[in-house]
Amino acid sequence: MIPITVVDVRDSEPLVSEVLRSGAIAQGPMVARLEAGFADVAGVSHAVAVNSGTTALVASLQVLDLKPGDEVVTSPFTFVATVNAILEAGATVRFADISARDFCVDPDAVTAAIGPRTTTLMPVHLYGQMADMGKLAPMAAEHGLSLVEDAAQAVGATFAGPMHAGGTRSCCPRACPACRGCGCRPSSPTARTCGTSTPCWSPRMLSSPGTNCPPG
Ligand SMILES: Cc1ncc(COP(=O)(O)O)c(C=O)c1O
Repeated sequence: MIPITVVDVRDSEPLVSEVLRSGAIAQGPMVARLEAGFADVAGVSHAVAVNSGTTALVASLQVLDLKPGDEVVTSPFTFVATVNAILEAGATVRFADISARDFCVDPDAVTAAIGPRTTTLMPVHLYGQMADMGKLAPMAAEHGLSLVEDAAQAVGATFAGPMHAGGTRSCCPRACPACRGCGCRPSSPTARTCGTSTPCWSPRMLSSPGTNCPPG
């Protein structure tokens, strides 16, 4: 059988040992290093690491303060965590069909799914390729909707040049103009990143309760 992916951790072993020996295995300097490296990959100034892609999605939605009845438009062709995160955040899932071209959510179907209760668009980037953000990002802006991208399967992917899938990325008009985040497998970095300083307070406080996000 040909494996879908082979995880090679040989290069990481010394780093893992370093963390274990340091005694700081939760929020130590290596996490800060991960966040800085991740922000670099995503092309943003801040990243907040959490324990899983699912948590990154939930945290990204929680900072939007969704109310019961608020609708999040997403793809029906995804891992169940996408939908679970929306339900966990207390919102309603509204599916828009996928495109046969890339199996990601079809922008025309998203347009048709947007209704009076829609607050958020949540495209899913699959198999290392991004959904059509060239259409979805302007659409979110035009309708005043938050944009949370599930990039668990596409960390490091780009769309039409400069647009990076840094992970679960969210653009929330109510909170900030360019707020990004990450959801990925435990074997890869999981973080939420943000292009501005202020909105990072919420994900930082969610990732590490009782602490404040350093300004800037
Ligand atoms: C599209 C998608 N979203 C979210 C997740 C959840 O990530 P995690 O398993 O790290 O919670 C996955 C995991 O496979 C995924 O494929």
